[in-house]
Parts: sequence; structure tokens; C-alpha cells
Amino acid sequence: MKVYKGHILFTKSSEKFEVIENGYIAVENGCVVGVYNVLPAELQNAEVVDYGDKLIIPAMNDMHVHAPQYRNQGIAMDLELLPWLDNYTFPEESKYSDTAYAERMYSRFVRDLWRHGTMRTVAFATIHKDSTRLLMKLFQEAGMGALVGKVDMNRNSPDTLTETVDDAKRDNEALIAEFNQPNALVRPIITPRFVPSCTPEMLSVCGELAKKYNLPVQSHLSENRGEIAWVKELEPESKFYGDAYNRYGLFGQTPTIMAHCVWTEGEELEMIKHNGVMVAHCPTSNFNLSSGMAPIRTFLNNGIKVGLGSDISGGHDLSIFKMMVYAIQVSKMHYCQDKTKPFLTLPEVFWIATKSAGSFFGKVGSFEKGYEFDALVIDDAELNHDNYPLLHRLERFIYIGDDRQIMHRYCRGKLIEM
Ligand code: GUN
Ligand code: FE
Repeated sequence: MKVYKGHILFTKSSEKFEVIENGYIAVENGCVVGVYNVLPAELQNAEVVDYGDKLIIPAMNDMHVHAPQYRNQGIAMDLELLPWLDNYTFPEESKYSDTAYAERMYSRFVRDLWRHGTMRTVAFATIHKDSTRLLMKLFQEAGMGALVGKVDMNRNSPDTLTETVDDAKRDNEALIAEFNQPNALVRPIITPRFVPSCTPEMLSVCGELAKKYNLPVQSHLSENRGEIAWVKELEPESKFYGDAYNRYGLFGQTPTIMAHCVWTEGEELEMIKHNGVMVAHCPTSNFNLSSGMAPIRTFLNNGIKVGLGSDISGGHDLSIFKMMVYAIQVSKMHYCQDKTKPFLTLPEVFWIATKSAGSFFGKVGSFEKGYEFDALVIDDAELNHDNYPLLHRLERFIYIGDDRQIMHRYCRGKLIEM
């Protein structure tokens, strides 16, 4: 048993923060036992780690990021999705046939996630099995949680990123055999890149793998209007884009995350809701690729699960704190156009990034009893130059802080150092 003392802030619901000034969190076997204003008598002899005036908050979850696009972070912002993929993204991802290159880039990438306080990540790798395995090993060695997808693609892609359906199946099964252990921090996730990259045969093999091994699924959905029109041509039998995934068992048949959903409405929205699919909202990517403004308020009103993603390198910023800010800003632009759609609040985006997103990994993202202790210790002394109240300290850190204020990081109860 260990007890952490400090100013504790987290969200049980999207409505408000729980704030415990000078409080205590007791942790045993990686999980929260309780949060207290006053240390209970039975814990008087437990070891206390005293963080004094610092803030203790849940760690961040990045629900959509492309590890092999790390080198392209912050460059190549002059095209929309489809030509952007062809001109910048596919050439970079092709380099990951070289495991030495992958090791160099992926180790920096994992360290950078750590630096930004992201302890759980849902990542795309590339079609390459060996470098995907390497990325999974790097997460394991770091002690950070991750669902990592070997990307599957077999059409409309350069030769360097085209595989056969049999190769995809064999390589996925090799990674599944090695990494699909119950309760493991790092696990595989079935990852058809998106409908334009996958033939019906590939999509159906992906659906079969997800079902056979009871694995989660991730892909992209309704990000860009050109993409949506193309999917209509490629999959004429599907009623709408999401239906193309659903027909192959890739839409909530096992836990599923769909990135973007910028243009989702009507029947597609109803199917996301009915099938319990989680939306990964990636506001910076949607700005940079001029994709549009995802209707997050509408999703929340419908009870659809939402998390936040950096989507490097469509997005340029790895900080999930900054994604909270951008998510609020996008919602304010919606609100300007339609005053019946209230903009997102700080507790709402914090809850989306922590407890809502964390639900994809189990009991993650809160400090309620039984939750895994994924936490950040924030030393905001530099920003707190005039004795701000605790909630203003948190808000300032989210808006204007960075990794310099993140003093310690915990994943599943373990202090993660690099
Ligand atoms: N759709 C298919 N592939 C990608 C990708 O790499 N990034 C983004 N933003 N959208 C995609
Ligand atoms: Fe993406």
C-alpha cells in the first residue's frame, strides 16, 4: 500500500471536477483503494509520498496517433487528406520496412508520449510486422499502456505499402500469438487503415481476426468529403461509410474506435450509438488537413463515447492537454453558427480525455475506487505566481503549460521514468 498526498483533481462525470485540497490517494496493486480528505486510521502506517503543493491528476490517453508519422510532425500542411497521404505519408511509412530506422524513430516517439504525460496510447504502426513488434516492445519496456495496430492495406497504396490478404493474416496472427495476453499493458488492435486502402477480402479477414481473438478494432471514418465520396464509389452496396465497416464485423462487434467522424450524421450516427463505437476526436488534425469540425456536442447529446487523439502527423501537437483546448475551441465555432449547441466546458473535455477515453482500456482515467492508478504530478509553481484557486491552476496548466510542469508520471501504479 502506498499513499500519495497533494491537491487531487479528477472527473467522475462530465459535469464537474472533484477537487480534494491536500488530499490522499491510497494505491494497492496498481489500483486506487480510496481518495480521502483525512487519512483514515487504518492507513496511518502506510508509506506516504508527499507531493506538497503539487497537483495530482489522471494521466492522459491518446486515442489516435500514427507512430510512423513522427518524422513528419509539424511539416507538410499544404494538402487535404488524400493527396497528403500519397505525397507525404505513404513515402514516410514505407521507410519502416527498415527496422533500424523504425527503432530510431519509435524510441523517440515513445519518449515523447511519456514527456507529454500520455500513459495510454492507441497507435497505428505500419504494414510491417517486425517494426510493429519493435514498437510494442518499446512500450512494454517503458511500462506504458498501448494498443498497437499492424496496419492492413492492399489497395490504392504504393507497392511499398501493399501486402496480400494472406500476408496480413499471417503477420497479424504472429503478433497476436506473442502479445495477446490477458491484462497485458501492451496489446494488439486490428487496424484496417480505412476503406479505400482495404479490399472487401481484407476487411473481412480483419473482421474475422477481431472476432476469433476477441480483439479491439481501430480505423478512420468520415474524415474528409473527398474520402467519403470515394468510399461511396468503392463500396456501392454500403448505405454509408460506417456501414462498410459494419458489414465486415468492424463496427462495434468488438470494442471499436473510429477516428474523426467529422461528417458523421443521420444513420451513421445512429449506428455508432447503437453499436457502442468510440469516436476519437482529433481537432488539430481536422484543422491542418482542412477536414472540418467534428460535431462533438451532438455526439455527447446522443450518449456516444468520445476520446481525444493527437493524430500525428495530420495533427502537429502530441499534447492531449492541448487537444482539450482545441476541442473547446472547435465547439465554440459550432456554437457561433448555432447557439443551440453549447460549447464544451473544461470539465467535459477533461472527462473526455481521461475517464471517457480510459474506459477503452478498462478502469482507467479516474481516481475512483478500483481504477488503475494512472497519474501525473504537476508542479505548476512557475505558472502559479499569484495564488490562483486550484481549478484555475489546473486550467492555466492545460492552456499554457507544457511538459516542464509534469514532474512525475504513473502508469498502473508504477512510477514511469525515462
Ligand atoms: N486516413 C487514412 N490514413 C490516414 C492517416 O494516416 N491520417 C489521417 N488523418 N487520416 C487517414
Ligand atoms: Fe489518423
